[in-house]
Amino acid sequence: MDRYLVIGDPVAHSRSPGMQNAAFRFHNLDARYEKRHVLRGEIAPFLEEARRELAGFNLTIPHKGAVIEFLDEITPEAAAAGSVNTVTVRDGKLLGDSTDGYGLEHALLENFHLGPAGKKFLFLGCGGAARATAFHLALRGAETIRIANRTIDKAGALADELRRYRRDLSVEISAIGDEERLAFWLADTDFLIQATSLGLRDDDAMPLNPALLRNELASRLRVFDTIYRDTPILRRAAACSIPAAGGMEMLIHQGAKSFEIWTGLPAPLDAMRRGFLQGDRESCCD
Ligand code: ATR
Repeated sequence: MDRYLVIGDPVAHSRSPGMQNAAFRFHNLDARYEKRHVLRGEIAPFLEEARRELAGFNLTIPHKGAVIEFLDEITPEAAAAGSVNTVTVRDGKLLGDSTDGYGLEHALLENFHLGPAGKKFLFLGCGGAARATAFHLALRGAETIRIANRTIDKAGALADELRRYRRDLSVEISAIGDEERLAFWLADTDFLIQATSLGLRDDDAMPLNPALLRNELASRLRVFDTIYRDTPILRRAAACSIPAAGGMEMLIHQGAKSFEIWTGLPAPLDAMRRGFLQGDRESCCD
């Protein structure tokens, strides 16, 4: 049997086992996917075990960047992003890939029937979620990527990397509190990507002044929250009739891409979506 894992800290909330085991069942594969709590300091011994015993694994917080120095190979996109969420084990070698950007691209297609080519993006936040996805959008022909962040220096660093990655990409940065600039940008944006950690907790505020989202933006603007839950920005967008979606399809599609990398088979999206929502039927501990 081929064994797969998702590792992270925390990892208990992960819906990847339900999703991946549904795909294995769909294709009648003798394979099993589970989750394991792995602390930051445990990554090196885990990887030695993985080389011997696993067919592949996914990584979530806090391992996506830290794992890179231990890998044998890494795709150019994952190297640019400094983020790996999918590792394939082949002949004891560890091959790293990033499928989060693919997940976001396909979530936009699924939710809004629009792709990134020629589009203008405004990212709120420039932490792990933005970093893991922005390089993919650049690769897929985004015209402009603007980054608004609380800490402007971090936005500047990511912007420099994006400019080096694609020289003709237009990249601009702003403090997230610069409402005048954000209002100007929002009137000229196709996709607002919420990539801060605000919204994970029930009492979180919106990362920008809610008044900046107005009905007049609804003809063009689409709001996507990388967080998988109902967040304040999604509620505000809905109140303004702005089309908006949360992170579920991004999770489904990043997992679908991982499945295809590991097995070479087409991902059964409907089965994976059902598995994602139902959880892992064979697991006792979800
Ligand atoms: P992750 O890896 O989960 O994305 P992260 O790398 O710490 O976590 O990034 C979190 C993002 O949310 C950052 O852009 C962060 O802004 P800073 O770079 O200024 O820290 C943003 N963020 C977190 N709390 C915030 C808050 N209260 N207001 C605005 N932005 C916030």
